[in-house]
Amino acid sequence: MKLTEEQIQEAGRLDAAGAIRLVTEWFPGKVCFSTSLGQEDQVLTDLICRHELPVRIFSLDTGRLFNEAYELLDRTTARYKRKIALYFPEPADVETYVQDKGINGFYESVENRKACCHIRKVLPLNRALQGMDVWITGLRAEQSDNRQDMPLLEWDESRRLYKFNPLINWSYEEMMAYIREWNVPYNPLHDKGFVSIGCAPCTRAIEPGEHPRAGRWWWETSQKECGLHGVQKK
Ligand code: ADX
Ligand code: SF4
Repeated sequence: MKLTEEQIQEAGRLDAAGAIRLVTEWFPGKVCFSTSLGQEDQVLTDLICRHELPVRIFSLDTGRLFNEAYELLDRTTARYKRKIALYFPEPADVETYVQDKGINGFYESVENRKACCHIRKVLPLNRALQGMDVWITGLRAEQSDNRQDMPLLEWDESRRLYKFNPLINWSYEEMMAYIREWNVPYNPLHDKGFVSIGCAPCTRAIEPGEHPRAGRWWWETSQKECGLHGVQKK
């Protein structure tokens, strides 16, 4: 089903939980949410669970996540008593990659890095999205230039589904206020200068004043996306 402009505007007038509920009514059983366990995603998990919204929650386990992320996964499922499905990369893809490029081959070139993100994140994501009509993400416009113009709900032609970003207009402060208000469990690395958290070897803490995504693939000068979210900046 394709949404009309009026429907998209209707969703835009609601708060995040209301918009998610409406979208689940439009696409029953076909709405999923990918969580990286970052703070935006923890807010969405809390909203989805607290309002008992019928959304399938999953995470991509690249095999290289921080231990803090795995611990948070456990704490989150215990707190909300809700399953988070895990998707892993194909073993053969990882084995070939590691044999050809080395266990940390992503440091050697942008091409190697993108290839690693492709097999560890993008392909498992595509598998997780199969059969779904709506993919919820925790993207916020403030996070990067690339995300500035992303709408609340947009048709993703390549994946043939709607990408739905309920927090797209939330500020960092709003997100943090929500986490405090509802005592949402979060990754303790956020309190140690880690703002945007991905895989352990590819994420560092940032200094005050640095761009929030400066700690992602920090050895690269301008590549700050992994291929999950479109535009690859050169
Ligand atoms: S990334 O493209 O740089 O890796 P980022 O970490 O900002 O993405 O997260 C943006 C959104 O992408 C998250 O809110 C989440 O929906 C999705 N995402 C990123 N990494 C993962 C992951 N490992 N598992 C599931 N979803 C993820
Ligand atoms: Fe590989 Fe790093 Fe991408 Fe994780 S973030 S999939 S370790 S290149």
